[in-house]
Amino acid sequence: MPSPPHINLLPDLLISQIAAGEVVERPASVLKELLENALDAGSTTIQIQLEEGGVKLIRISDDGCGIARDELALALTRHATSKIASLEDLERVGTLGFRGEALASVAAVARVTLTSRQQGAPHAWRLAGEPGATPEPAALLAGTVVEMRDLYYNTPARRKFLKSEATEYAHCIDAVKRIALAHPGVAFTLSHNGRVSLHLAKSDARGRAGAILGDDFLAESRAVDTGGGHAQGIRLTGHCALPAHSRARSDAQYCYVNGRFVRDKLLTHALREAYQDMLHGSRYPAYCVFLEVDPASVDVNVHPAKTEVRFRDGRAVHQFVYHAVQRTLSASLAAHPASTGDTGSGTDDGAAQYRSGAPLPGGAPTAGSERPAFTHYAPRQESLRVSEPAVASYFAFAQNARADAASARFNASDAFAPAGTPGALPSPAPGGDDGAPLGYAVAQLHGIYVLAQNAQGLVLVDMHAAHERILYEKLKSAWDERAVATQALLIPAVFAAEPLDVAASEEHADALRELGFDIAPMGPAQLAVRAVPALLQAADPAALARSLLVELREHGVTQLLAARRNELLATMACHGAVRARRQLSVPEMNALLRQMEETERSDQCNHGRPTWTQLSLAELDRLFLRGR
Ligand SMILES: Nc1ncnc2c1ncn2[C@@H]1O[C@H](COP(=O)(O)OP(=O)(O)OP(=O)(O)O)[C@@H](O)[C@H]1O
Ligand SMILES: [Mg+2]
Repeated sequence: MPSPPHINLLPDLLISQIAAGEVVERPASVLKELLENALDAGSTTIQIQLEEGGVKLIRISDDGCGIARDELALALTRHATSKIASLEDLERVGTLGFRGEALASVAAVARVTLTSRQQGAPHAWRLAGEPGATPEPAALLAGTVVEMRDLYYNTPARRKFLKSEATEYAHCIDAVKRIALAHPGVAFTLSHNGRVSLHLAKSDARGRAGAILGDDFLAESRAVDTGGGHAQGIRLTGHCALPAHSRARSDAQYCYVNGRFVRDKLLTHALREAYQDMLHGSRYPAYCVFLEVDPASVDVNVHPAKTEVRFRDGRAVHQFVYHAVQRTLSASLAAHPASTGDTGSGTDDGAAQYRSGAPLPGGAPTAGSERPAFTHYAPRQESLRVSEPAVASYFAFAQNARADAASARFNASDAFAPAGTPGALPSPAPGGDDGAPLGYAVAQLHGIYVLAQNAQGLVLVDMHAAHERILYEKLKSAWDERAVATQALLIPAVFAAEPLDVAASEEHADALRELGFDIAPMGPAQLAVRAVPALLQAADPAALARSLLVELREHGVTQLLAARRNELLATMACHGAVRARRQLSVPEMNALLRQMEETERSDQCNHGRPTWTQLSLAELDRLFLRGR
C-alpha cells in the first residue's frame, strides 16, 4: 500500500495563479477588471490600447484619482483594497471592485506595470509587478496607466486555451461595450494594433445606447423609467425593444444591477416573462435595462467574475422588473399621446414612450388645428352595407346580443364595435375633432389592409393581425374574470369527428363550457357545435371546435387551462379574427381603429409582428419629391 499523502502549504505564486484562474479567463476578463478599476477611481476619460486581441498588450490610461507611491505595491497584493474595510462595507458595496484581488491575479499570470500620479504629486511613479521591484519616478500628467503584457507567459498550459486573435478581440469589444453602456458620462477610446476602432464621446444614457446598440435599436424600443420613490430605492431605467424587433439570438440583452453588468437568471426570467405574451418562443427580446437597488439589498459577492448577484427579496425584484417592462411594452396607444424626441427623464411607472420610427400617430391635435378632410366619409346608416354573409351574421349576432345584453356580461358586439351596437359605431363627427391617434378609415386595400388618415398622415393597419390581438386580449380578461360569455348558434354546426374527439368532447364538457363552448356528440363520429364564445362568433364554429379538440387531446385539459392557456386563447383569437379579403365598411374599420387604441399591446399581433404602421405626410412628400 502506498504511504498516505502529506498535506503541504502551496507556494504563494501558485496560490495566486490558482486564484487568478477564477478572475482571469481571457484578455477580455483582464480588460473588464482594469476598466472597473478606472471607473472606481472616478475617471471620466479612459483610453484602451490592445495588441493581438489583448493577449500581447492591454494598456488602460485613465484620469482618475491615481495611486500613491507607497500604495502601488499594495495595489498588486492580494486582498488589499481601498474600497471596503469591514463586513458592513461589504454588505453595501457601491464600487465595482471590492475583493482586492483583480490586479494581483492579473500580475500572477502576466507582466504588469502600474504608473500613477495623484493630484498634487510632483511627478508620477511606476512600479513593475515583479518580486522585489520598487517604485521609480515616471512621466505622466495625471491618473493611472495599467499595462498588462504577455498574458499567460508563465502558464503556457492556459495560453493554449486562448482562441484566435480575432475572437479574443471580439470578446474585448464586448467587455468595453458592456461597461460603456452603464457609464455614459465617461468617454472611451479603444484601439487595436495601433488603430482606433471605437470612440465613445461623453453622452447621456440614451445617446450611449444609440452609440453602442445603434439608432435602429432606439427607434424600435420604448424607454422604461419607473422613477425613484419605490421601496428599497428600487428603480428600473433603460430601453426595451418592441417585440416586433426581437432577434434570433440573445445577443442584445444587457442587464445591469447598480451599474454592474450581470447575467442573472431571475432578471432574465422577469424580462422574458414580460415579453412572453408578445413574442414567439424562439425569438429573443432586445433590451438594455438598469436596475438600481439599495446596495444592502443585493449580494454581489456570489460569483468570481461578479456577474451574478443575489437579491435579498428576489420575488419583489422579479415582480417589479416584470411589471415595469410589461407595462412599458403594453401601454396602449391611447394612453400615450404623441411623444417625440428623448424623454430620458424620470417618468412614472407606466412610462412608455412610443419612439420615432413607428411614431405615435395623432395625439390630440391642438384646438383649431386643421381637421383631416374625411368628413365626406361620415357614415350614414346605409353605409353599413353588409357585403358578406359572415359579416351579416356578425351584425345579426350583435343585434341578438343587444337583445339579451342584460344577461350577457360580455356582449357580442364587443368583438368589434366598442359602442355595443352597429348603429352606434363611432365615426368622426363632422367638423369636430376628437384626435383619434390612429385616425379615421378612408379605405380598405386588397381586403388585407385598412388605410386611415390621422393628423400625421397615413396609417396602415393589418386588419387581421390587429383584430386578432384585440380578441386575444379580450379573451384573456374574460377568462380571468371567469366571464366568457357564450353565444348559442341559431343552427348548430355539425361536423365529422374522430371517435377520440367525440370522447374528448364528452369527457371535458365542463372545461369546454368554461371556455364558452357547447359541443355535443351527434353520433359515434359526429359532433355539433351549439354555442361558441360570444367574442368568437365570427369564426367558423366547426374549425374552431376542431382545433380546440386537437389541443385538448394533445395537451390534456389541465395543461390547456393553465400552462397552455395563452396559446389556446391565441389560437382561438386567430380563428375569431376577421379574415383577409373580407370587406369592411368604413364604420367597421373605424370601430377596429378605436378598439386598437383601447387595447393593451395592440401594436403587435400575438406573434410579435406589428399590427400597424404610420407613413407621415413628410414621408409621403418625399416619395413624390415634394417640397424640395
Ligand atoms: N486605475 C486605478 N486608479 C486608482 N486606483 C486603482 C486603480 N486600479 C487599482 N487601483 C487601486 O488598487 C486597488 C486594488 O485593485 P484591485 O482591482 O486588485 O482590487 P479592487 O478593485 O479593490 O477589488 P476587485 O478585486 O474586486 O477588483 C484598488 O482597491 C484601488 O485602490
Ligand atoms: Mg478591481
